[in-house]
Amino acid sequence: MTSDIVDGGPDGSAAVPHPAWLPTAAFAPIGRRRVAVVLPDGNDDAEVAATVRREVAAATSAHGGSVVGPDEHPDLVLVLEPTATGSGFRVVRDGDRLTVSAARPTALLHGLFHVVRLGEAAFDGPDGDEQHSPVSGLRMLNHWDNVASHPRHGQVERGYSGGSIFYADGAVRTDLSRVAAYARLLAAIGIDQVAINNVNVAAREARLLTDGLDDVARIAAVLRPYGIRTHLSVSFASPITLGGLTTSDPLDADVRTWWRDTAARVWGAVGDFGGFVVKADSEGQPGPFAYGRDHADGANMLAEAVAPYGGLIHWRAFVYNHRQDWRDRSTDRARAAFDHFAPLDGHFAENVVVQVKHGPMDFQVREPVSPLLAALPRTRVALELQVTQEYTGQQRHAVYLGPEWSEILRWQARGDGTPTVAEDVARAGGFTAVSNVGDDPYWTGHPFAQANLYAFGRLAWDPTLDPSDLLDEWVTLTFPGAPAALREAIHAILDESWLTYEQYTTPLGVGFMVRPGHHYGPDVDGYEYTPWGTYHFADRDGVGVDRSSATGTGYAGQYPEPWRDVYESAESCPDELLLFFHHVPYTHVLHSGTTVIQHIYDTHFAGVERVERMVEAWESVAHLTDDDLTARVRERLAEQLRSAVEWRDQVNTYFWRKSGIADAHGRVIH
Ligand code: GCU
Repeated sequence: MTSDIVDGGPDGSAAVPHPAWLPTAAFAPIGRRRVAVVLPDGNDDAEVAATVRREVAAATSAHGGSVVGPDEHPDLVLVLEPTATGSGFRVVRDGDRLTVSAARPTALLHGLFHVVRLGEAAFDGPDGDEQHSPVSGLRMLNHWDNVASHPRHGQVERGYSGGSIFYADGAVRTDLSRVAAYARLLAAIGIDQVAINNVNVAAREARLLTDGLDDVARIAAVLRPYGIRTHLSVSFASPITLGGLTTSDPLDADVRTWWRDTAARVWGAVGDFGGFVVKADSEGQPGPFAYGRDHADGANMLAEAVAPYGGLIHWRAFVYNHRQDWRDRSTDRARAAFDHFAPLDGHFAENVVVQVKHGPMDFQVREPVSPLLAALPRTRVALELQVTQEYTGQQRHAVYLGPEWSEILRWQARGDGTPTVAEDVARAGGFTAVSNVGDDPYWTGHPFAQANLYAFGRLAWDPTLDPSDLLDEWVTLTFPGAPAALREAIHAILDESWLTYEQYTTPLGVGFMVRPGHHYGPDVDGYEYTPWGTYHFADRDGVGVDRSSATGTGYAGQYPEPWRDVYESAESCPDELLLFFHHVPYTHVLHSGTTVIQHIYDTHFAGVERVERMVEAWESVAHLTDDDLTARVRERLAEQLRSAVEWRDQVNTYFWRKSGIADAHGRVIH
């Protein structure tokens, strides 16, 4: 088969990017029917309402159906009922008629995409009446995109999909049609907020807040018709760097005035602007600590400035000392977010959302869930995930993260029968993630990395959804009419891929054995003697970090019961997190019955074998997708296999040399 992707223009953008989960064929079940759209005049979000009309017109004209009036026997009615309540939509099936209704155009658009997702089944099922509502009104993507290219990170920090879809040649793109296509994809998975620039705010990007506002308004105008509000990442030092003040002390009157005036200009340019994302006192970004203030002082000052407009401050809890002395065994980076933020619970303004990474370190393939997520009952908290695969194969490896996120979302911080992480954060905050798209023709580098973006949106809407079902949804939409063999092969490749990646990279939760800087590929001691606080402490006798309260850093004590006890002792700690919490001898016997050293060898050999099976699975169905996509997946799988072998050999060799203990099965270790 040949591809319908056309090569890009001079700025590197693909003229016709891959349709991802919205190919024209996915609209056939709606498009071949009689559809009525009932929209009272003068509703709030007229541009979103117009999108609903446009989608229906496009679907029916592509597939031979028609747009009809509500009295002309429609098969599908999309109706806006401003008097209805709730943030979701209602789906009623009554005989031959399917009615989707909602109080707001955005919810109606979500309802339309719900019908697209169900396909023919939406029209075939028994009569019924269902309400579909998101668990939270904060379902956000953060772009780590720079306007200008950064010398070390390129244009998109931790971006593995080409350049930014928003910016090219040091400016906001003139042609934002790709952003419109992206917004449409996001609306189809329920995303409702997007931050358009990197949390590490450099000089050029800082100016989006001031002389770049016209451009921000242009981007917002493209996102708005899809029910998405625009946000900016801002630098805490802006009053100095942009305003010419001598301080950015949050308690300084001039600083407060500067931010109030700035907010007035931002909302003057973009009436439905969402708010600011702030990375402060983190990895060199400025923050309130310079003035002896705490993070509530900093966040609340900004919150006050944006409050008149209903704006939010998304204040990141990723605060730690990145200039640690590796000789200092008393400092533990894992403790930092909790130590800084838990004491501030109840001190944040009502429009501050504290954004907490899912683990206490930094998006590793395996970490315990951050104890901070359960330590802020009087604060609005958002969970931060990383869709971009910084530490999970950088979109060269096929790694489906749905199962990892699902495990995090379902985790119960206070034990069985208590609220899940998803329930805790949905209460007043929500869900946010670092986006993985760029101007690559497939959006995401590895075409299968689209499934991660898809799954994030769907899980943010309903965290109880099954990640394997979501993968199935993605396959159904993305490969219309996919033969069973293709579906099965994609499941075979992706269902267990997170665990496979864990097997050939990182044993038992130890983390960070990656090449410093770019974080791709193995380097067991790469971070061991650096200031970053990411150590495994391997010696000739054992490996792992003692984070117990009794003899270690005390991190385990940040958890409520029962987890503080479970993690405290090496006997009760789950195998997969053992080295995160404990330093144990290589001969320590795991619950699985094998020793730590033998587990390291076994999983690394098994991981590579599983990647070999992934390659075989793809080759068995490669003829079933178009040539370009086939080739792209083939090339990525070949690199994944090469990289997995490199990981296996380096990690096994390293631990064999350290421990002097041979593999029980006599396999080749170099
Ligand atoms: C990681 C990542 C950085 C990023 C940071 C953050 O450390 O490597 O590129 O800036 O996370 O979340 O702010």
